[in-house]
Amino acid sequence: MIVAPSLLSADFGRLAEDIAMLNDSQADWLHCDVMDGVFVPNISFGFPVIEAVAKLTQKPLDVHLMIVDPDRYVGRVRDCGAAVMNVHAEACTHLHRTVQSIHQAGMKAAVTLNPASPVEMLTDIIGDLDMVLLMSVNPGFGGQSFIERTLNKIRRLRRLIESEGSKALIEVDGGINLATGASCAEAGADALVAGSYVFGAPDPKAAIAGLANL
Ligand code: DX5
Ligand code: ZN
Repeated sequence: MIVAPSLLSADFGRLAEDIAMLNDSQADWLHCDVMDGVFVPNISFGFPVIEAVAKLTQKPLDVHLMIVDPDRYVGRVRDCGAAVMNVHAEACTHLHRTVQSIHQAGMKAAVTLNPASPVEMLTDIIGDLDMVLLMSVNPGFGGQSFIERTLNKIRRLRRLIESEGSKALIEVDGGINLATGASCAEAGADALVAGSYVFGAPDPKAAIAGLANL
């Protein structure tokens, strides 16, 4: 299982220490949640913070943009050194164009779906995607409970990926712990984002290892 701890739940007063811990862990990617207070009812952090984090981390950056019109920032995300740029389908008027510009910038393109958005809305673009991120909570906050219906969505997305011959990975974000992560793995997820479960654990590296072994 690919594990992407979410920086949102780190201690922002001790970011360097938390990133050093992640460098020494089995984490595969570092998930960075950017919120604009418009697309979601919360504001997190922006590019100056990601640039600072990029200098410290040894893990590829998985940047999840919970902002309107994320296509305006493809160049900024690339300049931060992101490996993956995650945009919400609900926030892009011309999703195909946005995915093309992410690829032209040299990044992996991932499209994120809110809990109420059906996987079928990606039928005509799934072949162009490197990853689909399924939100298993409503985006905006860490520490929420996993929406069980996501498991059915993972299975439907897996079928869509197979039927369209897509190479897209399935990533799941929100309310992930060892139990919900195991259910996602069984349903066909490739990657798990975990914030509060990792940073709230007495031993974060052991929590990451538990998810990695699913
Ligand atoms: C929520 C963010 C998540 C968040 C997950 O809007 O996209 O990445 O950090 O936090 P947990 O794992 O605590 O649900
Ligand atoms: Zn996220």
